[in-house]
Amino acid sequence: MAVDDDQLLAELEPTATRLYERHLSASKEWFPHELVPWSRGRDYVADEAWDPEQSMLCEGARSALFLNILTEDNLPHYYRAITAKFGTDDVWGEWNRRWTAEEGRHAIVIRDYLAVNHSLDMRELERARMRQVSLGLVPNPSSIADGIVYVALQELATRISHRNTGKLLDDAEGLAIMSRVAADENLHHLFYRDLVSAALEIDPSGMVAAIERQVRGFEMPGAGIEDFKVHARVIADAGVYDFASHHDQILVPVVFKHWRVEQLQNLKAAGEQSRDRLVKHVEKVGSVAKRMKSRLARRPAHAV
Ligand SMILES: [Fe+2]
Ligand SMILES: [Fe+2]
Repeated sequence: MAVDDDQLLAELEPTATRLYERHLSASKEWFPHELVPWSRGRDYVADEAWDPEQSMLCEGARSALFLNILTEDNLPHYYRAITAKFGTDDVWGEWNRRWTAEEGRHAIVIRDYLAVNHSLDMRELERARMRQVSLGLVPNPSSIADGIVYVALQELATRISHRNTGKLLDDAEGLAIMSRVAADENLHHLFYRDLVSAALEIDPSGMVAAIERQVRGFEMPGAGIEDFKVHARVIADAGVYDFASHHDQILVPVVFKHWRVEQLQNLKAAGEQSRDRLVKHVEKVGSVAKRMKSRLARRPAHAV
């Protein structure tokens, strides 16, 4: 019999409690205001036009930070979506509230960094934030199984993206900020990654089907952000997050090496079919990534 959402939540609760305690002992307290280089700042003048010359950031870094912060800003809607699925009680509610508090400081520190450096057009950013939060669009996976798989993949993708963005900033303070944020995302990823491992023991066939759906349909959160696709392309060209990193640093290490999907025993017929489609899909992503990598390597350096 298929395992439904309530049953899966109930059976996962002891694992979630253990992973939440592990998270609390692994996470370090940090203070956004202590990482921001305030001495670089100056007052803004109303109606002051922003000139890209003011920004010491390359286009790739600007696009990455623009998408990163708008995603972090959309936090109220993540909280809403997670609450609707996981409820507010027990460890699920505790985790969601703690996670929300941690994500909130990412938006704080990135916005302060951008503002003090005049890195982006802050008026345009504020308008984009108003639009984004007013729209309220967030990914909304259809089940608990789909939800934990999606977030496990997405938190890792976010960690990779933040860390690569930090390197692109060419600024020690910026790198320290993005590394700090990425370290939080890594702990979020570990919580969900290991929750999925436990769920695979409870309901292997149901979980493989969820992994297949989420891997095949994976998209970074960004729906509703104006020019999302344009920024995503700039980010991929800058090497922050692209097909190759998605395949080599997410799908292979998590789906194959950690969840060991290919070695799972006792799958029902539907689970076997999901696994076959999943394996084929990941192989396809791998060969597209390889082609893109060699095309990129042939491009003249100034075109990147
Ligand atoms: Fe975050
Ligand atoms: Fe996170």
